[in-house]
Amino acid sequence: MKEIVVGVVVGSARKGSFSQAIADATAGLLPPGFAARMLPVADLPLYNQDYDEAPPAPYTRFRGQVKECDAFLFVTPEHNRSMPALLKNALDVASRPYGASVWTGKPGALVSVSPGAIAGFGAYHAARQVISFLNIFLMPQPEAYIGGVADMIGADGKIANEKTLGFLKQVAESFAAWTKRFQ
Ligand code: FNR
Repeated sequence: MKEIVVGVVVGSARKGSFSQAIADATAGLLPPGFAARMLPVADLPLYNQDYDEAPPAPYTRFRGQVKECDAFLFVTPEHNRSMPALLKNALDVASRPYGASVWTGKPGALVSVSPGAIAGFGAYHAARQVISFLNIFLMPQPEAYIGGVADMIGADGKIANEKTLGFLKQVAESFAAWTKRFQ
C-alpha cells in the first residue's frame, strides 16, 4: 500500500527550537505506513497579493510540497498569545492565489509548545481558527498542549521526558487513525 505522506510544518526556525524537537519526536512516533516530510517555511517571503501574478521561487516550491502531502502535522510555539507570523505566513502562502489553495480537503493535527505553563493555548486556538478555515480537517482529540518544554530536552537536544513521549505517541497514533479515515 502507498505510504501516507505527512507534511510537518513548524512555526519556529530558531536554532534549538523546542517546537522542532516536539515535531521531530511526534513525526518519529507515527506508525508504519506513514512518511513524515519536513516542509521548510523560513525562506518564504512575507505574503503579498502582488506575488499571485509572479510567485517567488520559494512560494512555488512550498505550494508544490504541500500539494504532494496527504496530511499535515502543525507544531507551533506561541508569540504574544497567538501563532508566530512564520506559521501564519506559511498558511497564507499555500492558500493562494484565490481558489487554488493546496491545503484544502486533507486531515491535520496541531500541537502547541511552550516553556511556560499555559502551553501555547492561545497559539493553539489561533492556529486552529485559521487551519479549520482552510478546510483542513483537524483532529479534534487529543488536543496537544506541551508546556514546560525546556525541562524535557536531553543532552542530545531531543525530547527526553518519558511521560511526554508517551503522550506524543498517543497523539501520533490517534492522528494516524484520523488520517486513514480520509484515504
Ligand atoms: C514568546 N514566547 C512566548 N511564550 C508563551 O508561552 N506565550 C507567549 O505569548 C509568548 N510570546 C512570545 C513572543 C515572542 C515575540 C517571542 C520571541 C517569544 C516565548 C516562547 O515560548 C519561547 O521563545 C519558545 O522557545 C519559542 O519556541 P521555539 O523557538 O523554542 O520553538
